[in-house]
Amino acid sequence: MNENPNETQVFQEMGFEIEKTKDNSPTLRMLNGTDRGGESMHHTGGAFSETCLIYGQAFQKGFQVNPDPQIVSLGLGLGYVEVLAVVYSMRYPGSRPVIYSYETVDGLKTHFKEFYEEGKASTQFAKTYQWILKQMAETYGFKTQDIQLQVQKAFKENRLQLLGNFTAEMNSLKSFDIFCYDAYSKKTSPELWNEALMTELFSKGSKTSCVSSYASNGVLKRSLVAAGYQVEVLEGFQGKRNRTWAYRPH
Ligand SMILES: C[S@@+](CC[C@H](N)C(=O)[O-])C[C@H]1O[C@@H](n2cnc3c(N)ncnc32)[C@H](O)[C@@H]1O
Repeated sequence: MNENPNETQVFQEMGFEIEKTKDNSPTLRMLNGTDRGGESMHHTGGAFSETCLIYGQAFQKGFQVNPDPQIVSLGLGLGYVEVLAVVYSMRYPGSRPVIYSYETVDGLKTHFKEFYEEGKASTQFAKTYQWILKQMAETYGFKTQDIQLQVQKAFKENRLQLLGNFTAEMNSLKSFDIFCYDAYSKKTSPELWNEALMTELFSKGSKTSCVSSYASNGVLKRSLVAAGYQVEVLEGFQGKRNRTWAYRPH
């Protein structure tokens, strides 16, 4: 292996190609030829903008109700959702969210930790993470260093936990306030779109919990209703498909 592989190569070795979406933000697409090849992690219209629309709503409402929410992110990918959660917490001084982030690709967790927890600017993903940080800072009116420090602090205080395969580990999840259901599609990750599993999972939500997802398939909607949520189907990012917003009625 090349001793100094560039970012593109490192992503390729992990089975991804890096792509720029229409708002210039980076996303990863699984390489064709792999068993789950072809699917991108985000909408081609904008990874950053899509994340802000879909999960920003959950954080906006969730932090208002409870400034110390338990947040679940499925899955980590490039970490847009995790960083956005920290950015929202910065609007509430003293807020101490706990973020449970699930991811099956070890390399994605390793690079994210190296950059945010250990502050290694040399990680091969640094350019990508720096782009995301800068965009978060400009959009939400914070300094990049402050956001990075808060992510680091969350790691140090064990409030940002990078976990593994969700189906294998979901039993240890006791409760949540905000659930960001950002899994691949049903075609790519059928195991994560199982009605019985999802009903059991959503039933763990606190009495003020909310769930947001870019998806709006029948399995998701039925499991949310079965777990006692009020479900709203909203216009999706760039109007191309619907998304789901659900909350406990109170
Ligand atoms: C659509 S992407 C998430 C994008 C991410 N939220 C971001 O901000 O970049 C889905 C992610 O879930 C991960 N994943 C797939 N199956 C999983 C599973 N069973 N448990 C945990 N993570 C999984 C994938 O490796 C991928 O990184």
